[in-house]
Amino acid sequence: MDAFARRLLTWYRTHGRSLPWRGRVTPYAVWISEIMLQQTRVDAVIPFFKRWMTHFPNVRALAQASEREVLNYWEGLGYYGRARNLHRAARIVVQEHAGRLPRDPEALRKLPGIGAYTAGAISSIAFGEDVATLDGNLRRVLARVFDVRLAADSPAGEKILWRLAAEHLPKGRAGDYNQALMDLGATVCLPKNPRCAICPVAPICQARLLGFQSMRPVMGPRKAVPHRVQAAAVIIRRGRVLLALRPSSGLLGGMWEFPKGWVIGEPVRELPKILDSAYRLSVRLTSPLAVVRHAYTHFSVTVHAFRADLHSGKAGGPLKWIPIRELEEYPMGRIDRRIARELGG
Ligand code: ADE
Repeated sequence: MDAFARRLLTWYRTHGRSLPWRGRVTPYAVWISEIMLQQTRVDAVIPFFKRWMTHFPNVRALAQASEREVLNYWEGLGYYGRARNLHRAARIVVQEHAGRLPRDPEALRKLPGIGAYTAGAISSIAFGEDVATLDGNLRRVLARVFDVRLAADSPAGEKILWRLAAEHLPKGRAGDYNQALMDLGATVCLPKNPRCAICPVAPICQARLLGFQSMRPVMGPRKAVPHRVQAAAVIIRRGRVLLALRPSSGLLGGMWEFPKGWVIGEPVRELPKILDSAYRLSVRLTSPLAVVRHAYTHFSVTVHAFRADLHSGKAGGPLKWIPIRELEEYPMGRIDRRIARELGG
């Protein structure tokens, strides 16, 4: 074991975080945690993880659940494709792997939702395989300790970082090594103001030696994020509200929403036309209800929600009348949930 790995593992023994997916847990628990952690922070994941494990304690329970139930338990974590992939993967694991998650990274990568990073994390943490991984935290730590000058988000930079992660990996201790790097990145080697004074690898950190910590990792130019506007209708009749089920693939696939569409000009003027062409609904807007902003990875959106009366049109296809007091049972993205809460549902 080299000095880097030794320092890391010694530090991890006393400073590693105690988390609900660590210690004596099943490979299934490690898998769920890694999928949740792909795009969500540790403290946000913890309550979702606990609730999920109580409701879907093993892969068979997950495979047997309905998509709506799965999305309901994922609601609030965002990036709902992760939940749909997890659900599909659980069914594959039950049907093709006798309910046992494969242990080697190549087999793991064949499952929906598992890429190189997650395969390495699961294989090393759940099964003790000698496999490297590379997430944002590892990338930053390695780029600093080994002073990587190529952009960390470029193919050449990524290749070097994967190689560094693998080169220093101590045989038989990959799970701890990978998680030590994650914890060091999350608690010490912070993006801004890294806490070098308490860092166990500071004495061998090349960026620190040169005073380059804040310039590592080098990142390529960021693309501007476009902003878009939508208008949504809240149509209520006798204690029920009209919702639409989104197609099962794509952004927020399988989630429910208030009928809405993209607008270019004035939301009030365009919404009735949108609802007519998309859903054959004829409405008259009665009052503005809420304005909700939300940032996705590739764009941000402002949604203008209006109460509306229905003149003609009916449920069917993706449209369904839902009792207001049952709204919580229908999985929705953050924006629509905010609008739904305006109704006291
Ligand atoms: N981020 C991704 N995977 C993690 C893990 N197993 N522990 C802590 N943070 C993580």
